[in-house]
Amino acid sequence: MTIQHTFSILKPDVTKRNLTGAVNALIEKAGLRIVAQKRIHMTRAQAEKFYGVHAARPFFGELVEMMTSAPVVVQVLEGENAIQRYRDVMGATNPANAAPGTIRKEFALSMGENSAHGSDATETAALEIAQFFAGNEIVG
Ligand code: CMP
Repeated sequence: MTIQHTFSILKPDVTKRNLTGAVNALIEKAGLRIVAQKRIHMTRAQAEKFYGVHAARPFFGELVEMMTSAPVVVQVLEGENAIQRYRDVMGATNPANAAPGTIRKEFALSMGENSAHGSDATETAALEIAQFFAGNEIVG
């Protein structure tokens, strides 16, 4: 059994539509524990750093605009194989391809406004968590 931490963002399309609790219910129903959580308004610098790997992509400007357009909820999720488990709970990046019952199928509006971000590997999870949380803010 591998207990992992993964980093999650509930994106502006979630906070604007008052869906934080509804998304958290799907997260908890899937057996993931929300061990840290805060609502922030991301700065442009934070968003550009966070999505730096996508800096050369054509949608980068739109992505940064969207992520700074309204508050987000940043979270640390804990559970068995939490990284893959959360990716399964989110569903495909494009909501048109997401399976029924997933966050993106139930709530996402488009590829850009796709409701949730989750880390893709242990190394990125550690870096992403460290960008937004101090160790003593994570309470398992
Ligand atoms: P996320 O998991 O947060 O990681 C990168 C984000 O880029 C992704 O979710 C989408 O929100 C966004 N994204 C990926 N592809 C596109 C695209 N073709 N157009 C707009 N946004 C995109």
